[in-house]
Amino acid sequence: MIERMSALETISILAERNAEGAYITPGGIDSHVHLAQANSPTGDGWETGSRSAVAGGTTTVIAFASQKRSDPSLYPVLEEYHGLSRNLSFCDYGFHFILTNPTPEILREELPVLAAKEGITSVKLYMTYEPMQLSDRELLSIMLACRSLGMTTMIHAENSDMIALIIEGLEAHGNTAPYFHAIARPRIAEDEASYRAISLAELVDAPILIVHMSSETAMGHVRNAQTRLLPVHAETCPQYLFLLSEHLKPHSHDDFEGAKHVCSPPLRHDVKDLEALWQGIANGTFTVFSSDHAPSKYDHSGGKKLGLVDGVARFAKIPNGLPGIETRMALLFNQTEACQPPDKARLGLPKFVQLTATNAAKLYGLGGRKGSIAPGYDADLVIWHPAGKGEVNISQGMLHHGVDYTPFEGMHVRNWPRYTILRGELVWNKDQGGVVGKMGYGQYLRRGKGEVIMGKIGGVPRGMQEHERQYWL
Ligand code: URP
Ligand code: ZN
Ligand code: ZN
Ligand code: ZN
Repeated sequence: MIERMSALETISILAERNAEGAYITPGGIDSHVHLAQANSPTGDGWETGSRSAVAGGTTTVIAFASQKRSDPSLYPVLEEYHGLSRNLSFCDYGFHFILTNPTPEILREELPVLAAKEGITSVKLYMTYEPMQLSDRELLSIMLACRSLGMTTMIHAENSDMIALIIEGLEAHGNTAPYFHAIARPRIAEDEASYRAISLAELVDAPILIVHMSSETAMGHVRNAQTRLLPVHAETCPQYLFLLSEHLKPHSHDDFEGAKHVCSPPLRHDVKDLEALWQGIANGTFTVFSSDHAPSKYDHSGGKKLGLVDGVARFAKIPNGLPGIETRMALLFNQTEACQPPDKARLGLPKFVQLTATNAAKLYGLGGRKGSIAPGYDADLVIWHPAGKGEVNISQGMLHHGVDYTPFEGMHVRNWPRYTILRGELVWNKDQGGVVGKMGYGQYLRRGKGEVIMGKIGGVPRGMQEHERQYWL
């Protein structure tokens, strides 16, 4: 029964083989990836995306099943996404629902069934993007429904009207090159929406996680909420810790290449922005570190590039999102004390493990099974090279995803997962064979209720008195 082999048995077998002197961490959990999503048709599918995951030390992903506005029920949506992933995954996986049409039936009848029977215990909501965005009233209704079910509400927080106004002005001035994407979505749009999301959550006393945060001020709003013991969680991603908006400018023979770095929120302008987020990593404001792997190919057949319309760049038509499922673990590991001298290390190994695996497991209802090396847990492990060995220059050529570039091209990391082990099976062997796992070995995970990691339900509200809630909630 190899699948039930314990982590400790696995480690001892590996120690006899090749793990001597190596660091061993739990298999990564990437709790924010977009694979085969209907609204990003050029993105990675399950085969390439999950292959890329294990090659980078990630053993579990939570991807999105995305409701369209015209979908009156979530059941067919879930079936569709099961169909797109079934027998195709190299890693274990679950789904969050993206809700765009939260009807009373869905909130009252369907979510409880999906949580209890299908193990979907989290939703992602958009405050921006015309086809997906929700009103504050809708956000509140969903938060309330999720609260009562022990589900986590993930929120993409950017102020949609601010962005629409700026895009109109940029286009009127002919400023449509890729770089203007970063101008169109200023930090204040993220700051305002993050504060609003926290306020809505506070009103109804619901746990939330703000996804892919990039702004110091927005992060400060989260930090203040956490100080008041509100159940407010935050996520950031490698792109917001390592990359700046200069990548969106022309910097090669190809003026349009900045399109490779279009994501939302956008890459910010200043090293100070990166430094502030590193502080949030170190001081515990961020609960999870995910990739937001949401890739689109840059070059399509016939040289077609999305967002280049009759030879004219139109940033507002460039698909949003970067690839990063494979590079996430190594990029953060490289900043730990395992790879850097003490005065240069951004974080310790325990924090690395929390951010890349343990916290996501707890928050998203995989606690007790994933995210830790402990008796009774799945033997999901990453074995790194011993210190001083295994360095890598990141390049597109070494990666296993289905897109044609990496935004982290040329970055140097001092270590890379040497072995990835999923439920006791070797699925990635950097030295020999590369991806040695089998497609379809990855299992669908029915998740349980999430744990609140920061603060608590029933924290201290500020904009009202606690007793006021009793009359209506
Ligand atoms: O630019 C991004 N992040 N695209 C992916 C979709 C999303 O908002 O997460
Ligand atoms: Zn988002
Ligand atoms: Zn570049
Ligand atoms: Zn995303």
